Amino acid sequence: MENIKIQLAAKAHDYEIKVGCGLLKNLEFLNNLFPSQKSRAVIVSNKKVFRLYGKLLQNSLAKAGFESSHFLMGDGEKYKNFSTLKRLLDFLSENKFRRTDFLIALGGGVVGDLAGFASAIYLRGIGFVQVPTTLLAMIDASVGGKTAINSKFGKNLIGAFYHPSAVIADVETLKTLPTRELTSGICEAIKQASLAGEKLFSQTLEFLKKFPVKNFRKSFSNKPFLQSLEKLISEQVKFKAQIVSQDDCEEVGRRDRFSRKILNFGHTIGHAIEKVTEYKRFKHGEAVGIGILVEAEISKYVANFSEREVELLSEAIGLAGDLPDLNGVSRSEILDAISFDKKNLRSSLEWILLEAIGKPKILDGKQIADETILRCIEKIFQKRGSLCL
Ligand code: NAD
Ligand code: GLY
Repeated sequence: MENIKIQLAAKAHDYEIKVGCGLLKNLEFLNNLFPSQKSRAVIVSNKKVFRLYGKLLQNSLAKAGFESSHFLMGDGEKYKNFSTLKRLLDFLSENKFRRTDFLIALGGGVVGDLAGFASAIYLRGIGFVQVPTTLLAMIDASVGGKTAINSKFGKNLIGAFYHPSAVIADVETLKTLPTRELTSGICEAIKQASLAGEKLFSQTLEFLKKFPVKNFRKSFSNKPFLQSLEKLISEQVKFKAQIVSQDDCEEVGRRDRFSRKILNFGHTIGHAIEKVTEYKRFKHGEAVGIGILVEAEISKYVANFSEREVELLSEAIGLAGDLPDLNGVSRSEILDAISFDKKNLRSSLEWILLEAIGKPKILDGKQIADETILRCIEKIFQKRGSLCL
């Protein structure tokens, strides 16, 4: 018998994430990424975002010398499914797109996740550029190569790690984003900041004190606001990139505090709340906002997280904007939903908690008593003035 080894040069490639205002006006740099004279671009988007930014993107692609066409999907999480994926793959095949061509995801995380997954599997991998247009997609979903669709068994269960060739976050596109979507993105920013450490956390909190989310939409004509927002997004992206760089595929067995798993802080409770409210009442980031509050409380009991830092997280979430109420949501339903959390399908449940801001800790599900979880959920419900069932 012979043991033959294949040595792979690299798991993935390096790529640039550009953050700035007005970036969509000039896309000449794409010629360095897709040098073939005949490379064609396929813009994947939804009607709403395409109406806002499609023309600008098409014009800039044409100026850069690329022929482009577009594919529009439905707007919303329910369209991140097999049926949309199949329609997109058929569109690519019918129009004979080749491996020298590339997809551009123009939109939020829903468009980015689906277009990214299609890029990963069409012809076993085709070029792909992310153009995130929500705050959540700029700081999180477009960075790090997680692509997926939902199945009837849960969210993001079918997917691949497949990195884009570039990410272009044009901060100006956020001027049309509804306030609830901004709140949703800011909750994810608070999550990342609490994992990163004092510096990013203070920057995020100071930004929110100066520019509370409910005033964001009016502030886009204000230069200092735009500059601070651009800086905040850049620093958030740098943190996410740093985590992804050293745990690209979220290694299953890792438990250290630099594991990619830490990015799920706030998500165990957040996913359960989304599920119990049938994905209707909460935006993803809003549910994560509540998740951060509950998981900070749990951290106090089982990881010595200080009361002062719990208060800091609570202050930041308070500045993120109004979150939907929790009336009628039952604590035991949340517990049941946690045991069905998608992470259970892959491995046993793990909690991401905090020992301090910047010091996450991964704990096995069995290490935390149901009683503790219920008590912490109840506390947050009461603080938010919601009836606790
Ligand atoms: P989304 O994609 O549904 O976008 C939110 C809404 O904003 C949509 O109605 C969209 O049409 C609209 N919109 C987008 N850009 C706009 C703009 N500039 N102006 C006006 N309206 C605009 O939601 P999202 O919060 O961006 O993404 C959520 C998705 O991201 C979920 O499916 C989640 O699973 C996924 N996600 C993926 C990762 C990852 O690492 N891949 C990380 C976090 C979240
Ligand atoms: N949003 C979590 C991750 O990218 O790993």
